[in-house]
Formats: sequence, C-alpha cells, structure tokens
Amino acid sequence: MRLQTELCGIKLSNPTVLASGIMGITASSMGLIAENGAGAITMKSINTEGKTGHPNPIAITFDGGMLNAVGLPNKGIKETLEEIKEFKEQCSAPLFASIFAQSVDEFAELTKQLYKAQIDAIEINISCPNCDDEFGKPFSCSPITAAKATAACKEYAAVPLFVKLTPNVPNIQEIAKAVEAAGASAITAINTVPGMMIDIHTRSPILFNKSGGLSGPAIKPIALKCVYDIYEAVKIPIIGTGGIMTGQDAIEMMMAGATVVGIGSAVYWRDIDVFKKVCREMDVVLEKEGFTSVKEVVGLAHK
Ligand code: DHB
Repeated sequence: MRLQTELCGIKLSNPTVLASGIMGITASSMGLIAENGAGAITMKSINTEGKTGHPNPIAITFDGGMLNAVGLPNKGIKETLEEIKEFKEQCSAPLFASIFAQSVDEFAELTKQLYKAQIDAIEINISCPNCDDEFGKPFSCSPITAAKATAACKEYAAVPLFVKLTPNVPNIQEIAKAVEAAGASAITAINTVPGMMIDIHTRSPILFNKSGGLSGPAIKPIALKCVYDIYEAVKIPIIGTGGIMTGQDAIEMMMAGATVVGIGSAVYWRDIDVFKKVCREMDVVLEKEGFTSVKEVVGLAHK
C-alpha cells in the first residue's frame, strides 16, 4: 500500500519501472518482469523497419557497472504491435513503448502507428549513445532538436509522452525545459553515459562499436545530479533512471525529484526478482523514516 503511486495519471502498484533495453521485447519476457514485481514496464526501443544490432562484443561488465553497444536491434513496429497485444491479453501492468528514429518525421510516423496499441505511454529515446555514426548527433544534445522530436510525437500521441534525455550535455535544464514546452508529459533521466574500455593485448577498444553506453552503480551520482537539476527546472514528473540497485538507491533518487525509478542493469546483478527486492527494501526505509506513502519522499532533497 505504502508503495502505490501515480505517473501522469497512470496507477502503479509501486514506483519500480523496468528501464528500456532489458528484456522488454517479447510478451513472455515482459510477463516475467511483471510477475517479478515491476510497477511498470518499458519496452526495448523500436524503429519503423527494425534493425540488426552490432556484431559481438556488444557488452562488458566491470566493477562499476556495464558498458554496452548492442546497436538497437529490434523487429520493427509491426511485430512489436503483436507483442503488445499478446502482453496486454495476459497482463494488466502498465506498459510503455519506446521508440527511436533517424528523423523527426519517422518519430511522428511511429507515434501514429502506436495510436491504437494498448500501451499506457510512449517513451521517445532521443539519447542513445551508440548511434552517432548512423544517425548523426542524438536529438537530445540540443534543445532545438529535442523539442522538434517531442513536438512531432506529441501531435499524434494518444497516451502520455515521456522523453528520455542524455546526461552528456553542458546544461540538462535547458533541454528539459525545451521538451516540457514542446509537450512532454514526463522526462526519463538518464540514458546511459558514453564510455569506452580498452583491451591491452589487442591494443584496441573492447566493444565492436568501440564506445558504448555505461550503466550501473558508476552512473548513479550522475543520474542523481541530473534528476535534481531537472526537478528544479520543470513541473512535469521524472522517471529517475541510472544505477538503481537497491531500495535505498530508489529512495535517494526520489528525494532528488523522481516520481518513479527506472531499473535496468540491476536485473543482471540482482536477478529478475530485483523489483520485489527493491520494493521490500524501500518499504523498510519508509517505515524506519516514518513515511506513510512513497509519494511523500519525492523532491525532499530540495530545500
Ligand atoms: C543501446 C541503446 C541505448 O539507448 C543505450 O542507452 C545503450 C545501448 C543500444 O541498443 O545499443
């Protein structure tokens, strides 16, 4: 009860949300995530035609987290609509589609095609760190392009629109303000942080794509600062994502200003029931600190 919350009018049994990119592909994998306690599920990003990913190696772990450049592999909108239908026939957990595109027009077209899908929100991934060569600079690097992509989707969205931002900008507040003004219903912060790892023996970067997106505990302080800064800049809710491993991490992120928290890499380290584990841990912290609802902690670090 203490963990029940709401995001853009969507009721969640708890504030843990599967972050995009981890298992959110098929109806059966998403069903497993729901069974294991996630308050909502974000799907892996899709584009119109689908895409093959990068060749191996696509991911590597280290003490601080994980570096990955899988290359946005997906089966495209048509097959994804079938997975959404199948999931919703079996499961009532809120489901967020995630889309990426090479152009503002493709963003708009994808949103149009999701119009009749039984999804609860659309997240637009304008911040993938691994796509520079193919797609140019991510849309979320500039307030102008970030706002254009947001406005294009807003026009056709039948459900709330979440915009996922990169931390890799000099001033995330100006990007957040721009997407809010362009019609974003919420902001997801942050996407992975661009990074690289080198192999001494081969004298080259380890990942096929050379660089990748860093996630896990190493990026938690970066995510906390971004969420804190965004909370001061906008009125729309924030899905605080980046390095959340424990219930304690989740409460910290909510105190920074997040309404709900994204959990991704922690599925790898703490297993698929990480959502249940994080919820139990959050409940212990809330009880100990004297809160009756998780909603009470949102933004408390701002004095
Ligand atoms: C990929 C996409 C992302 O948005 C990200 O943060 C990391 C990796 C990818 O599919 O390569």
